[in-house]
Amino acid sequence: MTQTIRALVAVDEGVDHSIVQAALPAHRTEIQLVGIVDGLDEGWATLQETATDLLVVACTGYSDRVLFMIEGAVKQRADLAVVVFVTGPPDGFVRRIFEAGADDILALPTDSEDVAFALQKAMARKAGASVATGAALSPMIVVLGPKGGTGKTITSANLAVSLARSGHKVTVVDLDLQFGDVGLALGLKPDKTVYDLVKAGGALDADKIEAYLVKHESGARVLMAPTRPDHAGVITTEFLRDVYANLRASNDFVIVDTPPGFTPEVIASIDSSSGVVVVGMLDTLSLKNTKLGLDTLELMGYPTDRIRLLLNRADSRVGITQEDVVSVIGRIPDVMVPSDREIPRSVNEGQPIVAAKSHSNAAKAFNRLASMYDGSTQATTNGRFHLKKKKGKGSK
Ligand SMILES: Nc1ncnc2c1ncn2[C@@H]1O[C@H](COP(=O)(O)OP(=O)(O)OP(=O)(O)O)[C@@H](O)[C@H]1O
Ligand SMILES: [Mg+2]
Repeated sequence: MTQTIRALVAVDEGVDHSIVQAALPAHRTEIQLVGIVDGLDEGWATLQETATDLLVVACTGYSDRVLFMIEGAVKQRADLAVVVFVTGPPDGFVRRIFEAGADDILALPTDSEDVAFALQKAMARKAGASVATGAALSPMIVVLGPKGGTGKTITSANLAVSLARSGHKVTVVDLDLQFGDVGLALGLKPDKTVYDLVKAGGALDADKIEAYLVKHESGARVLMAPTRPDHAGVITTEFLRDVYANLRASNDFVIVDTPPGFTPEVIASIDSSSGVVVVGMLDTLSLKNTKLGLDTLELMGYPTDRIRLLLNRADSRVGITQEDVVSVIGRIPDVMVPSDREIPRSVNEGQPIVAAKSHSNAAKAFNRLASMYDGSTQATTNGRFHLKKKKGKGSK
C-alpha cells in the first residue's frame, strides 16, 4: 500500500513562489501538502507544530541558514525526509546540502512528476531498507534512569497503557534483559519472549514480531524480556535496531523500559529513539544521579528538547524545595508523580494505576506524560511543578 507523505514546504526569502507552486505535485493524492510557509523561521515553527514526514526547503542558492535548518531538522527528527529546491545556480552548495543531512536536491523549474518521484524516493530512503512498508516511523520513547528502583518500569507500563487507552497502537519493549518485569507490572505471563524471537531465526518483519508479543487488555503489547538472565546474551544491538525499525513502522508508539544505567543496549536504544523520559526520585542522592544521567545524554549529543524529566515519589513532605531541585538538576521537571500506595498494589494486581485508579493524582501525572507525546489536551492542564517554594528568612 502506498503511504501518504505529509510534506511541509518552507520558502526562503527571495524565492519566486510561482516556480515553487508550479513544481509541487498538487495532483498526487499520495503527497499531502500540510503547508507552504514563508521564511525559514516560520518553516521551523510550523515543523514543530505540524505532523510532517517530509520537509522541502526552497532557496535561491548557497545559504548557511538553509544548511543550519536542515541540520537542526535532521538532528531533531531522524525520521524526517528533507528535499531542497534550488531556484538559482546550486554551485558549491550540493555537497554541503547532502552533508547537512538532506536526502535530495532539485534544481527548479522542473516537472512536478520528477518532484513527486524525488519526494517518494527521499521518503523510502529515510524509512530504511529493513522496513518493508516504507512507512514513516512512529515515536519511540526510551524510559531511562541511572539508578535502580526509581520507577522506570512503573512509568513505562503506565505510559504505554495510557496511550493504548487513548486508542493508540503501542508496543512496550522490556529491555531489562536480565531482570525484566514489565510483564509483572501488567499482569502478563511470559509465554513468548524476545529470546524466542531471536531463536526463531530468519529475517524480521512486523508480522513475525507481532507473533511474539503478549497483549494486555488495554491493547498495549509487550515484547517480554527473557525468562532466564543467562538468555540475555543472545540479544545483540543489531537485532534490537532491526526490531525497533519494524515496531516503529507498525505501531503508533514504541516504549522501551530499560535496566538502570547506560548499558550498550540502552545506548543503542537511545540512539534509535525519538525521545527519552529520565525517571528520577525526589531525594538528594537520586537527584544527583539524575543529573548525571542528564549530563550523559548531553555528552551523547542527545537534543535537550527530546528529553522529558519525570520526578517520581515527588511529595512536598520530603523537605526539598523547587529551588533545590532546579539547582541540582539544572532544569524543571516536566512531570511529578506522587508516592501512592496504590502503585505497588496495582503491580500486584497487574493493572497499572492509570487503569486501576484513573482519578488518582499519580494516574493523572502519568496521563499527563502520555499527553505530551500524543498532543492531547491534558498536557497543558495542571502540568507543572508543585513543590513548595523556599521560605523566606524568618518564616520558619
Ligand atoms: N510513585 C510511587 N509510589 C509508590 N510506589 C512506587 C512509586 N513508583 C514506584 N513505586 C514502587 O517502587 C518499586 C520500584 O519501581 P519500578 O520497578 O518501576 O522501578 P525501576 O526503576 O523499574 O526499578 P529497576 O531499576 O529495578 O528496574 C516498585 O515496587 C513500585 O511499585
Ligand atoms: Mg524496572
